[in-house]
Amino acid sequence: MQTFLQRFFFKKLARHLRRPAGWFGEKVGRKMNAANAFLYDTTLDIMQPGNNDRILEIGFGNGKFFDKIFTKAHDLQLTGIDFSEKMLREAQKNNTDSIVSGKLKLHYGSSDNLPFPDNHFDKVFCINVVYFWDPPLPHLQEIHRVLKPGGHFYSVIRSRKSIEQMPFSNYGFIKYEQDEWLTILTGCRYKAAGIKVIKEPEAKLKGKSYPVESWCFVAKKES
Ligand SMILES: C[S@@+](CC[C@H](N)C(=O)[O-])C[C@H]1O[C@@H](n2cnc3c(N)ncnc32)[C@H](O)[C@@H]1O
Repeated sequence: MQTFLQRFFFKKLARHLRRPAGWFGEKVGRKMNAANAFLYDTTLDIMQPGNNDRILEIGFGNGKFFDKIFTKAHDLQLTGIDFSEKMLREAQKNNTDSIVSGKLKLHYGSSDNLPFPDNHFDKVFCINVVYFWDPPLPHLQEIHRVLKPGGHFYSVIRSRKSIEQMPFSNYGFIKYEQDEWLTILTGCRYKAAGIKVIKEPEAKLKGKSYPVESWCFVAKKES
């Protein structure tokens, strides 16, 4: 049972995980870097960026991981979109050189209205973002539109059991079982290409530890 103060804190944290803002959002952005580094590493291993790939990240937070993506292949063209102004500014500060050289483009906006042409990206990915798509369909349709035929969409979410233990997830998080998210993806014209189970290091929050498992759903836009 949460006290009034705990409820207040976890509601605020949930709001800032969804759309970080102000000084607290900046702090949440840094905490997410530490909490989600393993997830980024594993997702990149699964995604295997190829030379010259055009890749879009949705919900990049403070953009700390773009540098790592650039080490994975040559001549990558990376694009990011996030609907938090604070995160956009932080990510711009964290990636000045890549932006100036033109290999990284960052946009402010929402994934249900993507400012990109049809059939544009080889790969689209998002980590810890799907919980906030209510409903998910307009986002999935937009991603499908901007993917090249044969391109892949990687959506990474914490398992329902894992996210349910985290007290902030009572406030505005949509939680999925594996088959529920898969059904939504395939219902939106994606071909399921695999689900990778990611065993993460334990998460620590307010002195408590939580065992964490995430899933990376690989979905393909048919050629
Ligand atoms: C929980 S954070 C995850 C950040 C990072 N991907 C990570 O795993 O550490 C969610 C991020 O997605 C962004 N976001 C949420 N819904 C979005 C949407 N519909 N379109 C674009 N960005 C969104 C938020 O602003 C925030 O930066």
